[in-house]
Amino acid sequence: MLPVVPAAATPPPPPPRELATLEARGITAWFGDHQVLDRVSLTMPAGVITSLIGPSGCGKSTFLRILNRMHELVPSASLAGEVLLDGDDIYRADRPLTDARKSIGMVFQKPNPFPAMSIYDNVIAGLRLTGISADRDRKDELVQTSLQRAGLWNEVKDRLRSPGGGLSGGQQQRLCIARSLAVMPRVLLMDEPCSALDPTSTRVIEETMLELAHEVTIVIVTHNMQQAQRVSTQCAFFLASQGTPGAIVEYGDTEAMFSEPIDARTFDYVNGRFG
Ligand SMILES: Nc1ncnc2c1ncn2[C@@H]1O[C@H](COP(=O)(O)OP(=O)(O)O)[C@@H](O)[C@H]1O
Ligand SMILES: [Mg+2]
Repeated sequence: MLPVVPAAATPPPPPPRELATLEARGITAWFGDHQVLDRVSLTMPAGVITSLIGPSGCGKSTFLRILNRMHELVPSASLAGEVLLDGDDIYRADRPLTDARKSIGMVFQKPNPFPAMSIYDNVIAGLRLTGISADRDRKDELVQTSLQRAGLWNEVKDRLRSPGGGLSGGQQQRLCIARSLAVMPRVLLMDEPCSALDPTSTRVIEETMLELAHEVTIVIVTHNMQQAQRVSTQCAFFLASQGTPGAIVEYGDTEAMFSEPIDARTFDYVNGRFG
């Protein structure tokens, strides 16, 4: 009998850099004089997926935007606290803003590729914005590895010059993931990345996330409790009760949070009793 030979597969590209831990310490946030977060501290360990869950309006997106310095783009917004990337505060006065955006990428709820721009150009769109220069060969390589890491390469490799807007919703979201990966971030923040997608595309994105978790630290906001359980190792439950600012009620191992939560409010939330 012939020996079973595994099908030839493209070897996975090497991880860009060492995995990084992201740590939020005492994050308080305001829009004008409306306080929306109150002293939120959370360690998002290197190499695992952390999920943020909780009802709408409790400050999950605000917290995520604070993790890569997007919160300060809102004119009325302010914050207190620290965000440490491997122990180094991303808000330190002498650190350029682009540093944080380069190291900590973001993927949004609605896939937002540049629709008229080619798939190829979409992938490298972030390079110029973050001040990275690359020659033609380097760009070709980056486009291929980023699309491979995002789990999209095989579907688009023959039409890299077609517009990004021609892809399906799930493919567009993976294109956005590839665009984030092209600048070699150490952390990837994902704000409800599958809520606009069908179950099959959701599944593909989840598989992509699980692959990427070995090379990038991932933080995902999700309203899908099954998704939190399928993908995340660690989970934090946010709540803003009766007009108070959002805070973390409970966090820890995802399995334990769902099977034996400590706080009654966590129990009610993960069992679909509110939110
Ligand atoms: N740009 C903004 N200007 C003013 N208030 C905002 C802004 N964005 C969010 N908020 C308020 O901050 C609170 C938290 O919102 P958000 O972070 O979007 O919560 P979540 O993502 O958990 O639904 C809400 O009360 C929301 O109305
Ligand atoms: Mg949100």
